[in-house]
Amino acid sequence: MLTTLLFTLLIGVSCAFRNPIIPGFNPDPSIIRVENDYFLVTSTFEFFPGVPVYHSKDLIDWTCIGHALNRPSQLNLRGTAPSGGIFAPTLRYHEASKTFYMITTWFDVISPPDNTTGTPRSMYVSTKNILDETSWGDPIYVDQWGFDPDLFFDTDGKTYLTTTMGSGFIDPDSGYFAIWITEIDLKTGNSLTESRYFYRSELPINTPRLAEGSHIYKFNGTYYLLTAEAGTEVQHRAMWHRSNSLHGPWESSPYNPFVFNGRNLSQPILSTGHADIVQTPNGDWYTVFLATRPQNPTDSSGVPQLGRETFLAPVTWKDGWPIANGGKDITFEISGLYNKPRPKVWQDHFWNGEYNGFADRRYYTQRTPTKAFHSFKARKGWLRLYGNVYTLSDRQTPAMFLRKQEDINTVFNTELEFYPTSARHKAGVTAFLSTWLHQDIVITLHPETGKRVVAATTRTGKEPVAKTTYVEIPETGTVKLWIKCEADKYTLGYSLGHDRKATWVASAESKWMQSYPSGWQNFVGTHLGVFATGDGLPILVPADFKWIKTEGGDW
Ligand SMILES: *[C@@H]1O[C@H](CO)[C@@H](O)[C@H](O)[C@H]1NC(C)=O
Ligand SMILES: *[C@@H]1O[C@H](CO)[C@@H](O)[C@H](O)[C@H]1NC(C)=O
Ligand SMILES: *[C@@H]1O[C@H](CO)[C@@H](O)[C@H](O)[C@H]1NC(C)=O
Repeated sequence: MLTTLLFTLLIGVSCAFRNPIIPGFNPDPSIIRVENDYFLVTSTFEFFPGVPVYHSKDLIDWTCIGHALNRPSQLNLRGTAPSGGIFAPTLRYHEASKTFYMITTWFDVISPPDNTTGTPRSMYVSTKNILDETSWGDPIYVDQWGFDPDLFFDTDGKTYLTTTMGSGFIDPDSGYFAIWITEIDLKTGNSLTESRYFYRSELPINTPRLAEGSHIYKFNGTYYLLTAEAGTEVQHRAMWHRSNSLHGPWESSPYNPFVFNGRNLSQPILSTGHADIVQTPNGDWYTVFLATRPQNPTDSSGVPQLGRETFLAPVTWKDGWPIANGGKDITFEISGLYNKPRPKVWQDHFWNGEYNGFADRRYYTQRTPTKAFHSFKARKGWLRLYGNVYTLSDRQTPAMFLRKQEDINTVFNTELEFYPTSARHKAGVTAFLSTWLHQDIVITLHPETGKRVVAATTRTGKEPVAKTTYVEIPETGTVKLWIKCEADKYTLGYSLGHDRKATWVASAESKWMQSYPSGWQNFVGTHLGVFATGDGLPILVPADFKWIKTEGGDW
C-alpha cells in the first residue's frame, strides 16, 4: 500500500518536462526521428561551426553530436554581418537512400546598411552517418533564391524545395514574404520546374502578413503545410494548412494558430513559432518550436537576452488537424515525459578533452577562423590562446571561444595567466551578443601608467558607447575573471589568489544584449566566452586559461 502510494507520488511528481528543452540561443528548430533516435538542428547566424546537430533518445535529454557545417569548404564566413550568416535550417531523412539532408541559407550581408538586394540561394549538405560530423558533404546549391528552405521528399520519389521569398513579384498587396516551390534534382540541386508561388499568409496585412519557415509533410495521403507567420516578434505563430495536391487549394486549420502565446502579452514565454513536428516510436506526436523568455520584466516589455530558444509541446489530432498542448498556451512546465534538471555546475578543465581538446562540442568562434589560434599542447592542461590583430568589435574572427548562455542566472568564470607587454594586449572573458554589444573584463596594461591592470569595458546604448574601468593588480600571478549574469544586468569582476569571492568592477543592463544600431537587426542570443587580442597589431605573448566554469542554473 505504502509502496503503491510512493510510486504514485513519484510518478505524479516526475511526469512533467521543463521548457526550454534546448536552452540558450537555439532558434528555428527542425527535428526528425530515425528509428529510436531523434535529431534536431538550429540556426547559428554568424557563429562557426554552423548548425549544431543535437541527438536524443527521449526528446528531453539532448547532446550536441557535432555540426553539419564544420569546415571552411562548407562555410567560410568572412566579414559576415552581425545576424547574417546561417539562417533557419531544415533536417530531413531520405528513406530510399538512407541519407540525412540539412538545407539552410547563408547570408553574408543581411541588413539595410549593407544595401543587399534579394536573398541568396540556399544550399544543402548530406550524410549517411549523422553521428560522425566529418561525414557531412560539401554544399549543393539550389537555383531558387529565398530563405527558410525546406526539402520535401514525396512518396512518388520527387523532391520539392520551398523557400521564403518576396511575394511582390505577382501581387504587391499580398504581404511581404510568401512561400515559393520548385521541384529539384536531389543530386545537383537544379530546378526541374519553374518556381511557383505556393502559399501566402492569410493574416491581416498589418499583423504583419508574413509567411516563412515552411515545412511540408504528407500524412495519410494528404499534404500538410506548416508555416511561421507574422514576423519574429510577439505576433510570431505557427499555422497549419492542408490539401490533396501540392497545387492547392489550401484549407486552413480551424485550430490555427498552432502555437501562439501572443494572445496574452503578460506571459513569461513569448514569440512562439517556427515549428516542426515529430512522431514517437509508439505513435505520440510532439512539436518543437522557438520561443523567448523576456526578462526584467518577464512579459512583452522585457528583453530576452538569451535570444530564441528551443521549446517542446505534445501534439494531439482532431478531425485530422494537429493541436499543440491541447490548444493551451505554452508554459515552462508541461505534463508528460520527465524533467531533466539543469546542471548546477559545468566546468571544462582543458585536460584530455574528448573533442579536439574541449570537454564538449558546444564552442563557437565568430565567423570562420583563417587559421587555428589556440593550443592544448603548448601548456598541458591549459587552453592557450594566441591573440590576433582583431578585436571583438571587428567584423572579423578574433581569437575567441564562445558558449551559449543557457541560464538567465549564471556565473561564468575562468582562471587566466597573462603578461601583456603593451596596452593593446588584452585577454579575458566576454558576455558577447555581437560585434557592437559585448561586455568584457580583461588583463591588460594601463594605457598611461603601464601597470598590469584588469579593465572592465561595458558597451551600452542604441548606438553603443564603451566605458572602461581599470583596477591595478599584482605584476605576477593568475587572475580569476567573473561575469555574473542576472535577469537585469551583467556584472564584471575579478579575484586574486585563493580568494573565492569576486570584486565587482562594472555592470551593464541586460536589455542591451538584444540591441543593435539603427538600420540593423538582431537574431542572435548572448554567448559567454574567453578571448585574447593584439588590438590592431600581432601579439606574441600567449594567454593561458586554466579552466572555464558556469555555476547557477535556472531550475
Ligand atoms: C547604402 O546606401 C546608403 C544610401 O544610399 C548609403 O548612405 C550607404 O553608405 C550604403 N552603405 C553601404 C555599405 O554601401
Ligand atoms: C496572462 O498571463 C499572465 C501571466 O502568466 C496571467 O497572470 C494572466 O492571468 C493571463 N491573463 C489571461 C487573461 O489569461
Ligand atoms: C492516419 O490514419 C490513421 C488510420 O485512420 C489514423 O489512426 C491516424 O491518426 C492518421 N494520422 C494522421 C497524422 O492523420
